[in-house]
Amino acid sequence: MIKIELKYLFHPGKIRNVQIKNRIVRSGTYERRATKDGYVTDRLIKLYTDLAQGGTGLIITGAIAIDPKSSGSPDQTNLYDDSFIPRQRKLVKAVHDYSDVRIAPQLVHIGRQLIDPRYPPVGPSPILNKYTKLIPRELTVEEIRAIIERFVDAGRRAYEIGYDMVQVHAAHGYLLSDFISPFANKRNDEYGGDTQKRTKILVDIYNQLRDEIGKNFPIIIKLQTQDFISGGLTVNDAKEITKILVDVGYDAIEPSGGGGESMLHSMKELKKAYPSNVIKTPEDENYFLSTAKELKPLMNNCQLILVGGIKNPLSAEKILQENHADFISMCRPLLYEPALPNRWKSGDLSPALCKSCNSCFSTMMRGEVFCVVKKRIEKRKLRKNKDMLKK
Ligand SMILES: Cc1cc2nc3c(=O)[nH]c(=O)nc-3n(C[C@H](O)[C@H](O)[C@H](O)COP(=O)(O)O)c2cc1C
Repeated sequence: MIKIELKYLFHPGKIRNVQIKNRIVRSGTYERRATKDGYVTDRLIKLYTDLAQGGTGLIITGAIAIDPKSSGSPDQTNLYDDSFIPRQRKLVKAVHDYSDVRIAPQLVHIGRQLIDPRYPPVGPSPILNKYTKLIPRELTVEEIRAIIERFVDAGRRAYEIGYDMVQVHAAHGYLLSDFISPFANKRNDEYGGDTQKRTKILVDIYNQLRDEIGKNFPIIIKLQTQDFISGGLTVNDAKEITKILVDVGYDAIEPSGGGGESMLHSMKELKKAYPSNVIKTPEDENYFLSTAKELKPLMNNCQLILVGGIKNPLSAEKILQENHADFISMCRPLLYEPALPNRWKSGDLSPALCKSCNSCFSTMMRGEVFCVVKKRIEKRKLRKNKDMLKK
């Protein structure tokens, strides 16, 4: 058998001054493995050491709450005060014991998508969310400034903990993505109006965090590029926003799109929207590649991390070789196979085993997130082994 060498996929990359051993990123993936108060558990650490052992170059954590009033679920990891630092440090140290693996926390405010009887959802404007069926309360400018401060404080904590970089979550219909969306943001003040003003919150977070943590620590962003709803954000808006973010200094952008509301749309739209991407043929894979092709020429030294339906190492290699992206990023495939990068590196270039069935997505509503298909197969194997022993 001829061994095909993946020269690009396994070539080291760099985000700002941080060297990454290959071009494989684990995209933010909600875990629901923290304590009910949001503290890191040993089960959470195990998830991350499995990924580190499996060959991923840069791991982005599941969304971490920066505000006690914006948790997606009780067992979401939190970083909204200093009490979370010691256990977070344990997690980062465990990953860094695999010395060449990098890790970044993903910081989020749930915004309009919050469903929590204790707190009403908040947003840039009081626009009904058809997914939650709730109308958010419009934030005042003072409250927006306080939320920016919370992002900055959490980013500073990430730096102190020893994370390698930080990712700001500005996608999927959460608070920051709603600020840049012309559908969700109808404000007429410094944080709403034209694209420049709608993007101000992302600029403020970057500038204030950069002031706190100095010039070496990368600040990256997962960016909503399309809402997939009528009147929502489009790739043309995203091009303008990208230019602003590159100018201000963001070190990498991971373009994404969709959210709760877009999932309610027709099958055709659903197919495109996060994360219900039904991938049946190779043509359905790499579904944000056309977006990446539009954004990459605007990005200068800012790195483009391509996420969305990446399953085939040979097409990932081609995307990198043709310079449409600097890194590729995966979520569902690594839930099934945390050691997928090592498998590909060893020369087994068959595509990810993940069938993009989204059963993992439904586990998120009930508790711990896992790949249902993998668990079923493992159970079946266990039963078979037991039966064999009985015979
Ligand atoms: C179970 C599950 C949990 C997710 N959690 C997050 C998250 O915490 N933060 C985030 O930015 N995206 C999250 N996503 C979206 C993924 O990061 C990714 O953008 C999307 O699944 C497409 O990538 P894939 O085709 O490799 O799965 C999640 C997706 C799934 C299926």
